[in-house]
Parts: sequence; structure tokens; C-alpha cells
Amino acid sequence: MDKFLIKGPCKIKGQVFISGSKNAALPILASTLLFDKPVIIQNLPQVKDVDTMLSLLKSLGSKIQFLKNKKVVKIYKTKEQKYFASYSLVKTMRAGILVLGPLVAKFQKSITSLPGGCTIGARPVNYHLNALKKLGMKYEIKKGYIHASSNGKLKGTKIKFSKISVGATENSIIAACLANGKTILENCAIEPEIKDLVNFLKSAGANIKWIRKRTCQIIGINSLNKTTYSIMGDRIETGTFCVAATLTKGNLKIKNFNPRLIQTEINLLKKVGAKIQTGKNEIRIKGPQKIKNISKLVTKEYPNFPTDLQAQFMVLLCKATGRSRIIENIFENRFMHVAELRRLGAKIIVKDNKATIEGKTDFLGAEIMSSDLRASVALVLAAIVAKGETKINRIYHLDRGYENIEDKLKKLGVNIKRLS
Ligand code: EPZ
Repeated sequence: MDKFLIKGPCKIKGQVFISGSKNAALPILASTLLFDKPVIIQNLPQVKDVDTMLSLLKSLGSKIQFLKNKKVVKIYKTKEQKYFASYSLVKTMRAGILVLGPLVAKFQKSITSLPGGCTIGARPVNYHLNALKKLGMKYEIKKGYIHASSNGKLKGTKIKFSKISVGATENSIIAACLANGKTILENCAIEPEIKDLVNFLKSAGANIKWIRKRTCQIIGINSLNKTTYSIMGDRIETGTFCVAATLTKGNLKIKNFNPRLIQTEINLLKKVGAKIQTGKNEIRIKGPQKIKNISKLVTKEYPNFPTDLQAQFMVLLCKATGRSRIIENIFENRFMHVAELRRLGAKIIVKDNKATIEGKTDFLGAEIMSSDLRASVALVLAAIVAKGETKINRIYHLDRGYENIEDKLKKLGVNIKRLS
């Protein structure tokens, strides 16, 4: 298993290009199951989760052809359509559940594995199933699989999500595109990645409109046209690099990302002392000499502060001049990084979903272990400011969602090596 060896402390300096968004790519790729005509997707991030989704599509009978490099892919149908999404693929990547909506909407049947457990929380899929049921899907759960079907096309209806869910919103929007009649989805998640999925579907002729802030109207059509679409930049990768620059008194220019999409994060970083200038598709960020604390940082659905940046901000707050508090509201077990950060010297107390972070930590290098994607990148950040050598085990988690992270960091001045 690969490991990272990082020798710190290092300073982040230079320019970085943000890759395509993993969490936009996954639903967009799943939704290609709706198409009869070929689709070209550009700016695809080269990360493991995208490979897994492509393998899942291949196993369902889609033909995957890379054009130029692995960043542009053409996806089209073969005659051998299949409807079985296996446990071996869905268990490694929960977003596999996103093939359920399109399979039932397009082919009226599917056998899709239930995703199973996850280190950051239970992550059930009841909102996905309830919404698809309202659209006319029938299902039964047998031996870990969702056996789903529908009598003809799905039927448009009104659905109000009882809780905001990114994945359930995506599955429902995708499924409703080919349903009969009008679907109104209320209390939707409105993450930029969902807007990107909608823009992709609209580029192929889908009739989708946001009629209120969290209400989406979809009028079903018979089929989608061929399209070419470029995926948005990765919001969480951008946020992670912004934290890296702030943490290390760095000076960084971030290219290929629209700063308006991370206004909450930019305001927070300004509050802790970072100097930030934004352009059309770039961010310039200078880290402060002293990082101010944040008395209360709460994770919440977009446009609020994202759970996917909680671990990275925790590392930043370990270096603040005073005490901070983080409240994790989205996942019930997303403090796995705390124990590892403590091994590097952090002073953090966790009670339920609240973490109290004492500032002024002098991180000291040690051997530590990654537990999930964002926890892993938080450990990388801590290792960058730690004195001495840090060895991070199980970095396969990082490869799931960060493209070329060590090359990008090396170019910015980080002493990082992958040990295979
Ligand atoms: C998406 O996961 C992201 N994944 C996650 O990114 C992200 O952390 C999360 O949204 C929240 O922003 C992708 O986009 C592929 P949810 P998702 O449905 O869709 C509960 C990363 O690091 N819930 O919005 O699974 C759920 O347990 C990852 O890139 C139900 O109870 O998140 C959670 O507590 C990790 N029943 C909350 O809702 C359901 O049917 C929000 O989950 C669905 C969700």
C-alpha cells in the first residue's frame, strides 16, 4: 500500500491548476445511462472514484473511449445493455447508487447493490428510494440488492425531501428527465455540483428549471440529444489549496476555479487573516503571520460551510492563536482525523459532534494513518507544517478524489515522496 513521506515544515508558493470536480463528474457519468446518442465529457478528473464509475458503466454495457488523454471521454451505448450494478463496485464507491435512477428511468429495471457501510457515517439511501418510489419505481431489497422496476415510464410528481441530500437530489433529477409529465422537487440540495449536473442535462435538451432557491422543476422529455460538456473545477480541491496557503504563510495563485462558488470559505479565510484577491477564474491567496481562531464553525448544506472541508479547516485552527470549535452537522462520524492529528501534537477534544481545538499547536512529524478522503488530505496539510518527517499510511483514500496531489504539492514547494 502506498504511503506519503513528507518533510516539513514547508511553505506553499506558486500557481496551481484545479482539476475537474469529482463530485460533479460522478452524477454526470451516471446520467449518461439515459442517453441513446454519444456524450463527450471533458475536464474529467483522473481519480480512482471516476475510474470506478467508468468501470460500473462498462459493466452495464456502456462503451468508454478516451479521446486525447484520460481527461476527455466519449461514452456511448452498445447493444448489450445490462442492469446489474454489483456489490464489488458499489461497495468501493457509494456514488454507485446514482445508476439506480437512470437505469429505472431509461430501461424500467435494475438490480443495484446497496452501498453498505462507510467510515464517516451510516449513510443510508432511504431518501433516494423514497423519491424514486414516488416517481413510480417499485422495489424490493433482497440479499443486499435493490431489485427495482417500473410499469412503463416513470411518472412526474411532486416530491418534498424531508432532509436535504446531495445524492437523493441528483438521483431524482436524473430519473425525472425521462419521466412522463412534470416533476417538482422541493427542499433540494443546491451544491454547485448539482447545478453542474443540471447544466449538463440541459445541454442535451433536458427541460429543467430552478423555480425557487431549493425547488427544481423537471418536465420529462422522450430522449436526450448528443452533447459535449466540460465539468466544473473541483470546489473541495480549491478549498484545500486555499487552506494550505493560509496555513503555511504561503503565497498561491489558484487557476481554473470560479471563486464565487466558495464565497463562504473565502470569507472565513479572510476572517482568520488570509489576504485574498479574486478574479474571474482565479484566486490569489497570501497566508497571515498569525492565524486567528474561529469561535464556532458549523458544517451545513451549501451555501454554508461544507463538511468536505471540515478536516482541512481543523488543521488550520490547530495553528490559530486561540481556541476554536467545530460542529459537524452532516455526518455522524467525521472526526476520524482527530486521533491522528493528536499523534502529531494537536490538542483537540471531541464530544458528540463538537470538536474543541486549542490553538498554537507545534506539529511534530510522526507515522499516521488515513481513514477517508478528506481526513487524509487534512493529515497531509498537518504534515506540511509539522517539524520533521511524517509518514502517512493508506493514502489510497487520497487517490480516490485528488488528482496528482503529490505532483501539485511538489511544484508548490512541498517535500513529499510517494513510497510504493
Ligand atoms: C455527497 O454525498 C458527496 N458525495 C459527499 O462527498 C459529501 O460529503 C456529501 O454529499 C455532503 O455534502 C458525492 O457527491 C459523490 P448526502 P451524499 O446524501 O450524496 C443522510 C467526499 O469526500 N442521508 O447529502 O452521500 C446522510 O447519511 C464525499 O467527496 C440519509 O439519511 O451525501 C448524511 O448524514 C464524502 N438518507 C446526510 O443525509 C439518504 O438517503 C447528507 O448526505 C441520503 C442521505
